Amino acid sequence: MPLKTKTAGLKVKYSYLDTQFKDVEDVIADIRKLLKSGDFTLGKPVAEFEKLFAEYAGVKHAIGTANGTDALFLLLKAAGIGPGDEVITPPNSFIATTGAIIMTGAKPVFVDAGGDYNINPALIEKAVTLKTKAILPVHLTGNPADMLSIMAIAKKRNLIVMEDAAQAVGAKINGAHVGNWSLGAGFSLHPLKNINVWGDGGLVVTNNDDIASKIRLLRNHGLKTRDEVSIFGVNSRLDSLQAIVAMHMLKQVEQITQTRIANAKIYDEAFASLEKWIKIPPRRPSTRQVYHTYVIMVSQRKALMEHLAQRGVEVKIHYPIPIHLQEAANYLGYKAGDFPVTEKQAETILTLPVHQDLTRRQIDYVIRSIADFYVKKCNYSGRHSRESGNPGLDPRLRGGDEQRGT
Ligand SMILES: Cc1ncc(COP(=O)(O)O)c(C=O)c1O
Repeated sequence: MPLKTKTAGLKVKYSYLDTQFKDVEDVIADIRKLLKSGDFTLGKPVAEFEKLFAEYAGVKHAIGTANGTDALFLLLKAAGIGPGDEVITPPNSFIATTGAIIMTGAKPVFVDAGGDYNINPALIEKAVTLKTKAILPVHLTGNPADMLSIMAIAKKRNLIVMEDAAQAVGAKINGAHVGNWSLGAGFSLHPLKNINVWGDGGLVVTNNDDIASKIRLLRNHGLKTRDEVSIFGVNSRLDSLQAIVAMHMLKQVEQITQTRIANAKIYDEAFASLEKWIKIPPRRPSTRQVYHTYVIMVSQRKALMEHLAQRGVEVKIHYPIPIHLQEAANYLGYKAGDFPVTEKQAETILTLPVHQDLTRRQIDYVIRSIADFYVKKCNYSGRHSRESGNPGLDPRLRGGDEQRGT
């Protein structure tokens, strides 16, 4: 039955890519200048962007790369990770985290996630062997991993730590930007990230001069000068064109981040009333989480997703198949049941749109659409009544009578 409400026909798209670049005349003007300069690879704009990003993140060095995967790979490689080494990492990330480890020739060793979707530090030591050389935690969803605990373990066991901060531009722990907590971090500038360029791009940040110099060599074939090669490297240069776009995005990143945080807060407050069906991961006051994604655990996920699709609300799952259960990882010998928290999360997590272009009306519509789904299932009376045993729903969640039961 069609909805007879003000919100009928409202659509909430998951991604904002086609609406984000509305006013780009200044970007185009800078790109025109680039065309005249011919400074296309590792040019002046790359150096400028690196400087600005280093200032933004409060780090000594930022080094542009072709993408975030390469940023991680080059960081691992510069740290000396290679064949025969083991690198501890979570199985619930985008495949590129593990992919970067594999690219170095090292072996990924998985450690299960905790309730915050990040690697569980309490389980790390059990996975350490004589071959373990490094830990590569991921700041998944833009939520910083527990770096203080991870660094304490690394110190005790003499391990290198590097951060996968691909989803976490702007994220902080105790006021310090991610990437400052370890040897370094890799960031992605992919079109879906919080600083996004018009294609691919990435960055390594580090406070270590030697690592920075090595990565600068490695990303450009190991070329010391135009003709002299000091070490073998790869071609993973950030294009000047993407650096120009990135500089424009960097100016907006705080505004983008604040909006995402505000959107997430609206969801959090509303879903606190639906705790019977929706589990929000813990929010730590000492961290600044930037909500690259807004991920919750939900009951009856498949039916909820169908319901939301009918309502025009686009949602995703990040990620439905843990890395240890991917076909590509068969040879590592893991099996279902090895990482119960990650596996349970993969079955129940749901990612809602949280991007900066959402209107308050759209956010309320997403909340109401979700509340309607569960309320209908539990014969919710429509009254905000803790006494009656109904969830203490925010009145806003209840929607109009005509919506309930649709
Ligand atoms: C957690 C994580 N690591 C690594 C990457 C790789 O970044 P890119 O796509 O820029 O290579 C991504 C992004 O896609 C990511 O989300």
